[in-house]
Amino acid sequence: MKAALNRKYGGPDVVRIEEVEKPVAGKDEVLIKIHAAGINSADSRMRSLNVPKGFGIIVRLVFGIFAPRNKILGMEFSGTIESIGSDVSKFKVGDAVFAGCMFGAHAEYRVIKQDVAIVLKPKDLSFEEAGAMSFGGSTALNFLKIDGNIKTGERVLINGASGAVGIAAVQLAKYFGADVTAVCSAANAELVTSMGADRVIDYASTDFAKTGETFDIIMDNVGNAPWGRVKNSLKPTGRLLMVVGGMPEMLQGAFVSKKNGKRVISGTSGDNAVDLQFLAELAEAGKFKPFIEKTYRLEDIVAAHRHVDSGRKRGSIVIVMDN
Ligand SMILES: NC(=O)c1ccc[n+]([C@@H]2O[C@H](COP(=O)([O-])OP(=O)(O)OC[C@H]3O[C@@H](n4cnc5c(N)ncnc54)[C@H](OP(=O)(O)O)[C@@H]3O)[C@@H](O)[C@H]2O)c1
Repeated sequence: MKAALNRKYGGPDVVRIEEVEKPVAGKDEVLIKIHAAGINSADSRMRSLNVPKGFGIIVRLVFGIFAPRNKILGMEFSGTIESIGSDVSKFKVGDAVFAGCMFGAHAEYRVIKQDVAIVLKPKDLSFEEAGAMSFGGSTALNFLKIDGNIKTGERVLINGASGAVGIAAVQLAKYFGADVTAVCSAANAELVTSMGADRVIDYASTDFAKTGETFDIIMDNVGNAPWGRVKNSLKPTGRLLMVVGGMPEMLQGAFVSKKNGKRVISGTSGDNAVDLQFLAELAEAGKFKPFIEKTYRLEDIVAAHRHVDSGRKRGSIVIVMDN
């Protein structure tokens, strides 16, 4: 099968399309013919090692010191089940599914265990949309609901509202009944409003932390809203969700949370079937949908990496397989 491999760390040009062995489903695994796979900020970070301050060494230790151990990027995908292992009971051949994973989606096929982050594709979503469901959706859901305990009527500010995580966060925060302020550039104001934002702040003309307004939740998807900048913009029991931040800011956040009614929450969010099923049901109900700015063919994945590296993408970018 064809796959996009990065045999070394570096810029978009390190990624090459190669022929590799097609995987075979183990007893409790399904083999999926991939139709579409998201290409995200995490792929860019894992490929380039452009990670927040203090994480470089940790990432090398976990994912490969001199070269990536996982050579095929791609953390989310959709496709059709081509074969199943002897112990698989949850899925059958021909099922249309979507999934979240650690690596391996930028390829024509991937095997995945039936019990991890894989669920049936919502009927009304295209394979392209379903292939971009997991990364932004699971991250936003984990930070807002599971860690941030978002509640109806709360005031929520989403900093970086026009990326994959931000677009998902705006929709989910609205679904959970919050009043949503989105921070993005003027060019993306219409997009985030169409996703449900109640008001928009253009970061080029207004510093939200200097408006005097306060919020129950501030979600930072950019990495420029640490505790020192936003503490006065949080209500007395407010939560700062640091989706991205350097190690020093995270440590400071853990420290201030112990001494304060306000809390700083950071960490990484994973994927699981319960969250994906929740997102799938929201999608079926017409309440959640990834926004896809552009699709690229697998052959053009270097250009897709460049697009993601720009830091300016709107919503999601998707790689579409030829099959
Ligand atoms: N902790 C975790 O588990 C986790 C999980 C997923 C992602 N992340 C991190 O979360 C961050 C966001 O991920 P993503 O995939 O959503 O990124 P993304 O899609 O690449 O975000 C791109 C968006 O960011 C906007 N942006 C850039 N600078 C901005 C600024 N100063 N203020 C407001 N918006 C700005 C851009 O809009 P303009 O062009 O209009 O500026 C663009 O629409 C990344 O750093 C990623 O590594 C963490």
